[in-house]
Amino acid sequence: MEKQEKLKTLHERWFAKCTCELKKTATQAVPGDGNANSPIVFIGEAPGKNEDIEGRPFVGTAGKFLAEMLESIGMKREDIYITNIVKYRPPNNRDPLPEEIKACEEWLAEELALIKPTLIVFLGRHSMNHFFPLEKISQVHGKILIRTWPGLGRQHFLALYHPAAALYNGGMRETLIEDFKKIPKILKKIEKDSEK
Ligand code: URA
Repeated sequence: MEKQEKLKTLHERWFAKCTCELKKTATQAVPGDGNANSPIVFIGEAPGKNEDIEGRPFVGTAGKFLAEMLESIGMKREDIYITNIVKYRPPNNRDPLPEEIKACEEWLAEELALIKPTLIVFLGRHSMNHFFPLEKISQVHGKILIRTWPGLGRQHFLALYHPAAALYNGGMRETLIEDFKKIPKILKKIEKDSEK
């Protein structure tokens, strides 16, 4: 089976299996979306209102900003894979609770293990803290982080501010745009180093 098809089956299995309490209030699950062969996976926080309605991640204002930044580095949304830590919308877009993150964590782990991306990009602190609980995004944004992770082995990560947080904050917005521009170089460097 092709990777893309395997991913579809994986999501279908999790639609039935996930025990997240948010299932009760959300319209539907919002699974990861995009190219299963992408060298980059972006991980956001949780679906918002528009994502809950459409069943796709990052289709609202934050998604438009993300698409613009992707275009600025010569990439399209279809080229990459994008997912969230939590697959159901928390009521009124509140922060996801630890037990909600826990309920979806195996789902995320399986999609990452299937894709095996070269680089995982965190969009915001929630996604970063799932992998690096002690780091502060204000200190590590724009920097390469490395750690081993079950199903992935030695993995490279890049932490970015969340596009929704940066959208209306001039300074953070500039920082996010600058950090985002580092992605192609980082990707090349990781690929080159792995050839050694
Ligand atoms: N913000 C997120 O973190 N994820 C989405 O899918 C949309 C907005």
